[in-house]
Amino acid sequence: MKTKLTKDPVEAAEVINRGGIAAFPTETVYGLGAGVFDESAIGKIFKAKGRPQDNPLIVHIARVEDIEKLAVDVPVYARELIAEHFPGPLTVVVKKRADVPMSVTAGLDSIGIRMPSGELAREFLWMCEMPVAAPSANLSGRPSPTTWQAVLEDLDGRVDCILQGDPTDVGIESTVVDCTGDVPVILRLGALNSEELGLKIVRGDDEVAGAVKSPGLRHRHYSPSARVVLVDDLKVLAGGVNVAFIGLGTPGVEMGYAVVCSNEQEYAHKVFEFFRECDRRGIETIYCETVWEGGIGAALMDRLKRAAE
Ligand code: TXA
Ligand code: MG
Repeated sequence: MKTKLTKDPVEAAEVINRGGIAAFPTETVYGLGAGVFDESAIGKIFKAKGRPQDNPLIVHIARVEDIEKLAVDVPVYARELIAEHFPGPLTVVVKKRADVPMSVTAGLDSIGIRMPSGELAREFLWMCEMPVAAPSANLSGRPSPTTWQAVLEDLDGRVDCILQGDPTDVGIESTVVDCTGDVPVILRLGALNSEELGLKIVRGDDEVAGAVKSPGLRHRHYSPSARVVLVDDLKVLAGGVNVAFIGLGTPGVEMGYAVVCSNEQEYAHKVFEFFRECDRRGIETIYCETVWEGGIGAALMDRLKRAAE
């Protein structure tokens, strides 16, 4: 198929409304969307990405009331999280309505819902006739795309349309919180951390719960082709033309490619595009400096560890 590039959110929404699949920017990363009740379009997403069928999709809404089209028995604490953080980089997992297709939730009886805050995302979702199921718009296993060019690199000829927005703001994905039990549990660390969410959760516990309950975390993720090595001490770095570095400090040796960030925010914002650029340059070894696991640093370290696996 020919992939249409557009800057017009109405044109991208029309693609969804006619049963196609379209990539669009959010404040976290670009998503690849299809109408949530359109089973044939949902099938096209899994095919275009090469995504395992057991990995559920997050459903994106334009209005808080749209939750009622997707979910039942939403607990009071989830309503509070939603009131506080929608629109924003939070995904709540709640009990799904029976009429949401099982292909969206990969057979689970729960559904992940989020309302992105990006302006273009909101205009696009507003024009779609139904909520939009959307995973990140990368080929399965590759780093999530933070620019429309990165989407094109992975999905040219595999999707109907790419809505061309600015590079995404945050650079890593939303925080996924399970709201199906008595208390909220973080399944995937993300743009909002547990302090911002007001959740008192022991890190070790979320990782255990997350590994079991969030199927996406079982799969290989966020990986460039190069070998990724995490380093605490920049003095151990070996230089070379096929070696790259990203971190907060300045490496003392010559590298093929180096990105020095001024804080964790900037590091998170740049890391996925850095991985892609390393692949374009044929880099063989990537050194990533570890960061303090507070604030966005917790989610950043989660992505770095997965990339290094
Ligand atoms: O920021 C984001 O969340 C981006 C943008 C596009 O919204 N989306 C994204 O989607 O990262 P994806 O498909 O790459 O990751 C979705 C994650 C997976 O780890 C998946 O397992 C989890 O959310 N998830 C979705 N629905 C779930 C459910 N019902 N129960 C548990 N985990 C769920
Ligand atoms: Mg993804």
